[in-house]
Amino acid sequence: PASTDRDEHGMLRLSGISAARLQEQFGTPLYVLDEDDVRAHARRTLAAFRTAIAPHGADVRVYYAGKAFLCTEVVRWVTDEGLAVDVCTEGELAVAIAAGADPSRLGFHGSNKSVRELERAVEVGIGSIVLDSPIELERLAAIVARRGGVQDVLVRVNSGVHAETHDFLATAHEDQKFGFTLQDAPDAVARIRSLPGLRFVGLHCHIGSQIFGTAGFQESAARLVELHAELLEGGDVPVLNLGGGFGIAYTNADDPTPIEDLAAGIVDAVARECEVRGIGLPHLAFEPGRAIVGQAGVTLYEVGTTKEVHVGEEATRLYVSVDGGMSDNARPALYGAQFSARIASRTSDAEPALVRVVGRHCESGDIVVDHEYLPGDVAPGDLLAVPATGAYCFSLASNYNYVPRPPVVAVRGGQARLIVRGESIDDLLARDLGAAETEGNK
Ligand code: LLP
Repeated sequence: PASTDRDEHGMLRLSGISAARLQEQFGTPLYVLDEDDVRAHARRTLAAFRTAIAPHGADVRVYYAGKAFLCTEVVRWVTDEGLAVDVCTEGELAVAIAAGADPSRLGFHGSNKSVRELERAVEVGIGSIVLDSPIELERLAAIVARRGGVQDVLVRVNSGVHAETHDFLATAHEDQKFGFTLQDAPDAVARIRSLPGLRFVGLHCHIGSQIFGTAGFQESAARLVELHAELLEGGDVPVLNLGGGFGIAYTNADDPTPIEDLAAGIVDAVARECEVRGIGLPHLAFEPGRAIVGQAGVTLYEVGTTKEVHVGEEATRLYVSVDGGMSDNARPALYGAQFSARIASRTSDAEPALVRVVGRHCESGDIVVDHEYLPGDVAPGDLLAVPATGAYCFSLASNYNYVPRPPVVAVRGGQARLIVRGESIDDLLARDLGAAETEGNK
């Protein structure tokens, strides 16, 4: 909604601030994050799950999956709105700690956590660690045995439900790296229960990302509850963590299930399955990332060149090149992801033209928006806004072609605030030890 607001000159406004002012102050490319929007999604998601679970007398915890977009400010916003935070490396953990997050409300993921990372997590008093393999289990057990104390752990299970973007297909033995199979998980749990330093708190499962329907979640939840019920025979299992993956709309073609309906559908499936097995509903946990930050982000670019390219006998395509690209948004190149774009610096009565917005990198796959109708008079100097870039754009950014990563600006109530500074070429050169010896770098 924020990205459709225009001032009297047709200039796009983000949270009341004109795109041109943002460019003037911070340059382009620029990641703009709407604080109120992040907070609203955090609140709405938490409320949806709380409402769904309330009749069942259990509790729910929503972890923000930091991998979607992590910086200290975002950690503060989401924790302020009542979310816990999920981190998956020592680096992400450091950001959460630097933000002042309560370590007991952090969850630690990762498919190959190092001894050092596990040490660090235990040292800060992390709430729970999600175990991904037998080796990791023993690694953590040894650390806790040496240090003393008891660490809460979950066991990540591969439920065999693989969620494709709009669909899911069930395979008995999913060929992927994450977690324990349903068959192997009981042994892992038995091993944990035999160790005084580890407390088994529950199963964890994450079936995928950018999922639009509830069916995949429900199927996976049913399989998890079956195992959960079996494990109850050996002791308490207070929690069931069903991961994240709730999809968002990137373009008008996308139609994700509203979070309230998803929450109700998933919680109902869990409750049904628990009833069938004659067990009480465990406390549930979820880990949305994209659904919290995705739509709160807009990237601003400046158009550098436009070029008509002949693509057939009669056909041409208008290429619109911007000053960023796959280094600030790798999603189209990595996943064929679709985005939309609009001119942010003016309105135009020109006939719409089908364009492809491309970046400045040396690859033909460096596409920002594969197909979009923009006013046919789109020209160098125009500002372009690409909405829904809050998730997995900043976090997947690279320095490809020695392009410095853009800054992040938070907007709220007509105010813009730099929350992550942009890189400079000097930042990049400073890491090159050969360059450090040359004149001018002393
Ligand atoms: N929990 C676990 C264990 C995960 O691995 C992930 C995402 C999440 C939660 C959060 O998923 P979300 O709610 O954001 O869908 N780079 C890809 C997405 C990778 C997701 C990785 N794991 C993209 O840009 O689409």
